[in-house]
Amino acid sequence: PASSPSSHANDQIWRDLQHEVSLCEACSLCKTRTQTVFGVGNKQASWMLIGEAPGQNEDLQGEPFVGKAGQLLTEMLRAIGLKREEVYIANILKCRPPNNRDPQAEEVAACNRFLQQQIELIQPKIILAVGRIAAQSLLTTQQPLAKLRGVQHQLHDIPLIVIHHPAYLLRSLLEKAKAWSDLQFALSVYQKLEK
Ligand code: URA
Repeated sequence: PASSPSSHANDQIWRDLQHEVSLCEACSLCKTRTQTVFGVGNKQASWMLIGEAPGQNEDLQGEPFVGKAGQLLTEMLRAIGLKREEVYIANILKCRPPNNRDPQAEEVAACNRFLQQQIELIQPKIILAVGRIAAQSLLTTQQPLAKLRGVQHQLHDIPLIVIHHPAYLLRSLLEKAKAWSDLQFALSVYQKLEK
């Protein structure tokens, strides 16, 4: 309940964590960012989505997945009956890499503890890794997306499903079908948990 002491304590932990992220200088991306992009959504969410890194729009607005890919992600969620506000959305990196280049290993390593704390605080029932980079970072593997999607992984005992990045939805009909089946698979895994 919102009024319980532990939830007040949690609010403070969230505030402290967000403040710490906003001041972070653990890697060189702090020199080029406009601002950090912490994460957004329901802190009691059952579903947690983890993307790669902020892009230009996210860097300017301070919120993950607010650009074109983000609008598509919101629609992908709606397709399986989820509202953007009811999930929690974060990225592997809290700062935008210049020109949206891929995150570097040392940047992922420097940023990882923030994401791990977010996962620990939320304790989601299911995690969606959005796209190849997020999936490879979270699962510490080099396997291609084709191998990672369509199977249930675990991250700290939480089921983790890899879905296509929403940018794929903009490409071919085939990719659209794959993205759709990723979502259906995630939903079926979640529904089995509820039983
Ligand atoms: N792509 C991502 O992976 N994350 C964002 O926040 C925006 C685009």
